[in-house]
Amino acid sequence: MMYPRLKLARNLLTDDGVIFISIDDTEVANLRKILDEIFGENNFIASITRNTNSSKNQSLFVSVSHDYCLIYARDISVLSTKHAENKWSVPKNNIEEYKRKIEELKNLGLSNEQITEELKQLTKYPRFIDFVNYWYVDERGVYRKDNLGGVKNGNMTPIINPLTGKEDPVPPGGFRYSPEKLNELIKKNRIHFHTDGSLPTIKRYLDENLTQRPKSIMSDDQRPDNALLKEFNTPFDNPKQLAFMKRILSVGDKDSIILDFFSGSATTAHAVMQLNAEDGGNRKFIMVQLPEKTDEKSEAYKAGYKNICEIGKERIRRAGEKIVQETGKTDLDIGFKVFKLDSSNIDGF
Ligand SMILES: C[S@@+](CC[C@H](N)C(=O)[O-])C[C@H]1O[C@@H](n2cnc3c(N)ncnc32)[C@H](O)[C@@H]1O
Repeated sequence: MMYPRLKLARNLLTDDGVIFISIDDTEVANLRKILDEIFGENNFIASITRNTNSSKNQSLFVSVSHDYCLIYARDISVLSTKHAENKWSVPKNNIEEYKRKIEELKNLGLSNEQITEELKQLTKYPRFIDFVNYWYVDERGVYRKDNLGGVKNGNMTPIINPLTGKEDPVPPGGFRYSPEKLNELIKKNRIHFHTDGSLPTIKRYLDENLTQRPKSIMSDDQRPDNALLKEFNTPFDNPKQLAFMKRILSVGDKDSIILDFFSGSATTAHAVMQLNAEDGGNRKFIMVQLPEKTDEKSEAYKAGYKNICEIGKERIRRAGEKIVQETGKTDLDIGFKVFKLDSSNIDGF
């Protein structure tokens, strides 16, 4: 089933194209071998492990709570040249939620030191893993501490610690900045000083580091998607996570054409429209779905969907309307055309 589809999929990719495939533990080993054969081992980019947060406990041995997303390039050399200067980058995961948590802590009237302690606890959760070290707050925002040294033959002139009124130690190879630059940073409140005799550090604010290279372990919250499908009245088992789809789509060009030939509830189309609304992109989508009949006992059937295509179409309509409503961008292209495959005129098909 997989081999012929992937062989065709490769033909459809542009030279700088990339394929992303979701797969679970059962088939990942076979799929990887097939892809190595069709795409070539050297075109392998990564195998992302996605935390599915599954709490199913029926398994005798291990409760599997992850799946995979395999990524292959059509031609790694073309892609590498293209991205030599602008490496793949994605927004940090769950950033809005992390910022909201910090606001909540501030509103509770906690001191900055107390907030730091709370944030250290919070970033133990996988969903906030991207914010490890972003534990400190001042009036400008949340930041992590970074080394002011890390160089050889740097500036050896000590600086006065305003908290102690004494000279602070100098990093072993000196400061990486000149005395003038350090003074400017101190004036701008960009240096984090300590009272325990440890080295001063530079503040790296989260607001200036909103993106990062995508990581090979990803953790998103599935709950908003279940709520969303309920709101749209488009029930579907195991839809892909919208946040995850948006993240992987965002590494590509803003005008790319995105094909999903196992479209299901059309999460990919939803993610494309949402991403375009957010970053002004002009991505286009092509969704392919068999008119697979819905089970007569399923929620989808009861809601009036006789096949999966109908669920996908309704989701695209509702998602488009919702995005326009929420963003106020009435000129957003949320239109789509539906084509049905005709019977083949080739003998034997
Ligand atoms: C897990 S769903 C995809 C979920 C989708 N990404 C979403 O978020 O809703 C897999 C889809 O592949 C389709 N499919 C399954 N076997 C297929 C086959 N042999 N050829 C084409 N499509 C198939 C199914 O109809 C189903 O909609």
